[in-house]
Amino acid sequence: MTETILSPMSLLAELTHRCPLQCPYCSNPIALEPRRNELSTQEWISVLDQASEMGVLQVHFSGGEPMSRPDLPELVRHAVGLGLYTNLITSGVLLNEKTFPALVAAGLDHVQLSFQDVDTANAEHVGGMKGAQARKMEAARLVVADGMPLTLNFVIYRENADRVPQMLDAAVEMGARRVEIAHTQYYGWGLANRAALMPTARQLEQTTQAVEAAREKYAGRLTIDYVTPDYYADRPKPCMGGWGRRFINISPSGRVLPCHAAETIPNVAFPDVRHDTLAHIWRDSPLFTMFRGTDWMPQPCRGCDQREKDWGGCRCQALALAGDAAATDPVCSRAPDHERVVRVLETLPVEPPPFRYRRYARATDEVG
Ligand code: SF4
Ligand code: FES
Repeated sequence: MTETILSPMSLLAELTHRCPLQCPYCSNPIALEPRRNELSTQEWISVLDQASEMGVLQVHFSGGEPMSRPDLPELVRHAVGLGLYTNLITSGVLLNEKTFPALVAAGLDHVQLSFQDVDTANAEHVGGMKGAQARKMEAARLVVADGMPLTLNFVIYRENADRVPQMLDAAVEMGARRVEIAHTQYYGWGLANRAALMPTARQLEQTTQAVEAAREKYAGRLTIDYVTPDYYADRPKPCMGGWGRRFINISPSGRVLPCHAAETIPNVAFPDVRHDTLAHIWRDSPLFTMFRGTDWMPQPCRGCDQREKDWGGCRCQALALAGDAAATDPVCSRAPDHERVVRVLETLPVEPPPFRYRRYARATDEVG
């Protein structure tokens, strides 16, 4: 069956891997991109122009910490001028009275602010930065005072899973309109720290109950998005809405990827915006075409009535868990490798091991 190629809808612009925080669940790759390889302002402007011509509607400025790039307001202004909806995905530790006005003036539409925990000591232990929590609270205050829509993002893992009710209360107190209670996804540093981060089945049940209770308590005031850990599901998520269907990810050095973890896929060339156009990469590159649609699917996906709903799950998870990116996502209970997921959960350590913090491999690749 020939696949209809849709236009990408969202672009995730990973401006940099630099970040003042060191979260052990970061989805950035283990080999972080040094500053010297980052795209220039002009190169990012060209990416935005091309994305807009292709029909992209929203751009998410992300990282690392995108506010580490001094040209962020210029890029936001350019995106707004193209009619793109602009979202800033930030840790908030660099968003303050000095830096925020330039983003407001540039026309930024939305801020998504992440928290490591509602408990300050644990949040700063996990993020590896003293004083970060107060800076985040101040960032939230500034965004709300401006009237800009604010979404808070709490990443859930074993050490903070019991505090979901307090997180939701805090989101209301901070004036957020939307909050994401998102269990860690196990890619990049999250995968490296899986044994320390994975919640127990009991914790998952409690977080689900807490979210349901808060949805009633705060109905009409707060929208709660809830992301559960894939490993406890019996059907996979439709990762990225399907490979190469609606989503395009640009890495700090300009690699064009179908998802944030695609750089783990072996034996394929990674296209980049320094050597090819975005439109050509989207349509014809081997990376984007290899798992697009359903023709690549093995059994049982090939004969499954869910194949155009979940698109066979997540390719990067299939690679991480089954050693084959073209395998059925082992999260699916119908997958031949499903036992591997079950084994991960059955062998969770009673005492979580210490974190391996997100760090640059070489001291010369400074993060400031
Ligand atoms: Fe999805 Fe494949 Fe599982 Fe069917 S067999 S539910 S298509 S992952
Ligand atoms: Fe790559 Fe899911 S993260 S396909």
